[in-house]
Amino acid sequence: MMNSLETKSLTLAYGDTVIIEDLHVQLPKGKITVFIGGNGCGKSTLLRSIARLLKPVSGSVLVNEKDISTMPTKEVAKKLAILPQGPVAPEGLTVLQLVKQGRYPYQNWYKQWSEEDETIVKKALNATGMVELSERTVDSLSGGQRQRAWIAMTLAQQTDIILLDEPTTYLDMTHQIEILDLLFELNEQEGRTIVMVLHDLNLACRYAHHIVAIKNKTIYNQGKPEEVINTKLVKDVFDMDCEITEDPLFGTPLCIPHGKGRRILKKVGV
Ligand SMILES: Nc1ncnc2c1ncn2[C@@H]1O[C@H](COP(=O)(O)OP(=O)(O)O)[C@@H](O)[C@H]1O
Ligand SMILES: [Mg+2]
Repeated sequence: MMNSLETKSLTLAYGDTVIIEDLHVQLPKGKITVFIGGNGCGKSTLLRSIARLLKPVSGSVLVNEKDISTMPTKEVAKKLAILPQGPVAPEGLTVLQLVKQGRYPYQNWYKQWSEEDETIVKKALNATGMVELSERTVDSLSGGQRQRAWIAMTLAQQTDIILLDEPTTYLDMTHQIEILDLLFELNEQEGRTIVMVLHDLNLACRYAHHIVAIKNKTIYNQGKPEEVINTKLVKDVFDMDCEITEDPLFGTPLCIPHGKGRRILKKVGV
């Protein structure tokens, strides 16, 4: 059974500063949703509250219509996994140890480490290309390798819902595509619901079924990339002038920023 995910009248704040106000959003089951928005608009805050890492001021996050604030921690951890922005592993922790932690919600006093846990951890290491590096300490890895180690940990958690905050940061282009393809496959083949924050609008358009643009503490617009991404949205949400064309490979919206360049190849309407 796939898990549904939504927020109801969700208000989030740090002290007196409200970041997200009265947000109602339904995140499509079994689809890839991408949050977009300018720096500091509250994407990470929202994602963290969906994962119950941040308590709402008011309103709620519902998984299968059940308020997550009323659920035991291990139950939440079996339903959704989160890769936060810039996670830090304890010093000396190996990749294998980190990934094994993803199995923690499944352990208790009568169910210790099992063959099944072992298999799932191996699968997660495999999927992220981390097998060779599994004995290395997380702090000795490059940024991209580290990111893949954390993704392996979220995969080992085997949840229907995976939340990722800028999973492609620190990755070179090859690894960015590799990670997004991996998430795409998890969605396509296993029907996992993926909700992530991505900075690259063009990649967001290529991989997302659903885009949620955030601005002024709430949703500016949401829908299929083809329906919501246009020059007005980019101007309003990112305060940037651009041209929108079609991605030559995928037909998805492709944003080409105005601004300066090495030389003017084609004059745009500015
Ligand atoms: N722990 C915190 N305490 C106080 N303010 C915070 C905290 N974390 C984030 N903020 C502020 O909340 C706003 C939203 O931050 P964030 O959700 O990280 O934005 P985004 O991920 O969209 O860049 C920013 O103004 C940021 O400075
Ligand atoms: Mg952020």
